[in-house]
Amino acid sequence: MPDEPLAHVDDWEQSLEVRYPRGQSKTKDEFRNYRTLVRPGVRDFYRLNHRHQTFDFVRAKKHEYLALAKRRMGIWEAMEFLNTLVDDSDPDTDLSQIEHLMQTAEAIRHDGHPRWFILMGLIHDLGKILCLLGEAQWAVVGDTFPVGCAYSEKVVFAEFFEENPDRQVPAFQTPCGVYEEGCGLDRVHLSWGHDEYLYHVVRDYLPPEALYMIRYHSFYAAHKEGAYGHLMNAQDREMFQWVRTFNPYDLYSKGAERPDVAKLRPFYEELIAEFFPAELRW
Ligand SMILES: [Fe+2]
Repeated sequence: MPDEPLAHVDDWEQSLEVRYPRGQSKTKDEFRNYRTLVRPGVRDFYRLNHRHQTFDFVRAKKHEYLALAKRRMGIWEAMEFLNTLVDDSDPDTDLSQIEHLMQTAEAIRHDGHPRWFILMGLIHDLGKILCLLGEAQWAVVGDTFPVGCAYSEKVVFAEFFEENPDRQVPAFQTPCGVYEEGCGLDRVHLSWGHDEYLYHVVRDYLPPEALYMIRYHSFYAAHKEGAYGHLMNAQDREMFQWVRTFNPYDLYSKGAERPDVAKLRPFYEELIAEFFPAELRW
């Protein structure tokens, strides 16, 4: 499908591991080399993402989804729903979505972090059910970035923003655009995807640290590259420490080892029930 250049949405996650190799701080040249290291599908994916994620598109998707009127599901049910996201990968060797989520949560648990942090790791990608609700890959995954203001050169494949119609709107191309300096990210529209969607589903049930990690974990230009500081407020700067704390678990905990879902399920069912009602609005 021309609009679905990734063989699987997880190909984007793998491209992040290529971009940010474990235990290495990269040079500017390495950042540029990334463009040549990733598979062609990833490049095509970003081209679509940067072209189509306009200010109006983001506002329309928020209007469509943030009423949370699409589904009613518990957390475990949403995990099983996400698990139906299949692709042409090999089911015998590739891990399921639930297994990926559990690997992340188990790595956080292993390091002795609080229960809400473990739970956040388990659920942080559930917004990817957007794929199953009919959204294209470029509207579900990918690095997020603010719309309605100038694009940072630190957003990966920033050259593709030349194809975004917003590039021709002068009001959107100043550093602050439609926002005010220091206004705080809560007031800034980021490109639409799984982070923002899940944030709204769970915002009443988790501590602010967990909500920041969920809402901004794909905002690499900010939490990895230090861009867009002029839009942040003091709370954003403080809470981004948590987004950075979570990032290694997001990037590097998805190994080849298969977690024992049946054995772990009681622990996680109890953890889910500690924070969430039996049913949430999606
Ligand atoms: Fe994610």
